[in-house]
Amino acid sequence: MSKIKQRVLSGIRATGHLHLGNYFGAIKGMLALQEDANFETFYMVADAHAITTPYKVEEFRLSRLNVILDYLAVGLDPEKSVLFFQSAVPQHFELAFYLSTLISVAKMQHLPTFKDKVKQHPENVTMALLNYPVLMAADILLYKANQVPVGADQKPHIEVAREIARKCNNLYGTKFPLPNFFNLSGEYVPSLTGEGKMSKTVVGSYINLSDDLKTIEKKVAKIPTDSGKGEIRELEAESDQHQDIVYIDDSGQTSKGVKSLMSLIELFVGQEKRKEYEAEYKKDGLRYAVIKKNLAKLIYEELLPIQERRRELAKRTDYLANIIEDANQKARNVAEQTIAEVKEKFALSIVT
Ligand code: ADP
Ligand code: TRP
Repeated sequence: MSKIKQRVLSGIRATGHLHLGNYFGAIKGMLALQEDANFETFYMVADAHAITTPYKVEEFRLSRLNVILDYLAVGLDPEKSVLFFQSAVPQHFELAFYLSTLISVAKMQHLPTFKDKVKQHPENVTMALLNYPVLMAADILLYKANQVPVGADQKPHIEVAREIARKCNNLYGTKFPLPNFFNLSGEYVPSLTGEGKMSKTVVGSYINLSDDLKTIEKKVAKIPTDSGKGEIRELEAESDQHQDIVYIDDSGQTSKGVKSLMSLIELFVGQEKRKEYEAEYKKDGLRYAVIKKNLAKLIYEELLPIQERRRELAKRTDYLANIIEDANQKARNVAEQTIAEVKEKFALSIVT
């Protein structure tokens, strides 16, 4: 008898081009789970989540499709994963409403992700924004997902989903599994500026998956560095602040850019190389120009096949339409079943 597979659900908001943070934080995990026969993988374009922040309608039409193209180009396979649109499965919104009865307004207002968005768009503090984590919990629980491959910034949302699942199971007798944060490496890719995480909303912080060699070289060259020689101190890690290591050069300057550079080296070349460079930093000193040029080349070599596949796929509009329609239907089938169960448990089923 075949083993029951665990489910995986993840999504990326359709808000622009993907960058290396998304690639290491979310996509690498999505790919790994797709290739693991123990899992059934559902990956959506989080288009409803995307409209919780201000957007331009015409650009958005393209951005939605771009996420599917990116998914396929990085190696997500419609034969193995269900690649669908969140908004094509109305049960997400229905479940979000039911689940919103299980969590307080205060809890939502205190989430760091909510506070960040309020700071970014003070004119757009809407109900949808407050409800964002509840919709995300609905996305996950609708598919009874066990694993959720995402970056570290999404951990508070996974916690909310777990809390809602726990409460729902206790109060109504549903059997939602408690979803787990899943990440292989790169749960936090730092910004190229050295400050905070790589993010599409921070200019100068990211390398896009679509960048060419020249652009990557320029961006890597701009990572702020120091004299190349000094000491490295390990601090007690403040939770999720990712400031656990500091590079202090021989003039006493602390460079967060060096830390970003080292993180990228670790992601693209490996931990060994980072250790080697760190030993040189402490001994003879590093020559950043050469290191940066090599790193840029390695990044480009990883991205080039993705870019080539993407260009080919963009021409195959009929193929895209077919796989999307098929996936939307597969997602709806699972979603309908969960909603029927939830309505029954909440005493919302039609009495016959
Ligand atoms: P952005 O912050 O650039 O708007 P999204 O919110 O669209 O990115 O994130 C999509 C996915 O990529 C999420 O799983 C998120 O956790 C992950 N992610 C985004 N930026 C990073 C990063 N710098 N490091 C690791 N993961 C990230
Ligand atoms: N909130 C996620 C982000 O900003 C996107 C997302 C929406 C998601 N629904 C999800 C991720 C469900 C994982 C599971 O990137």
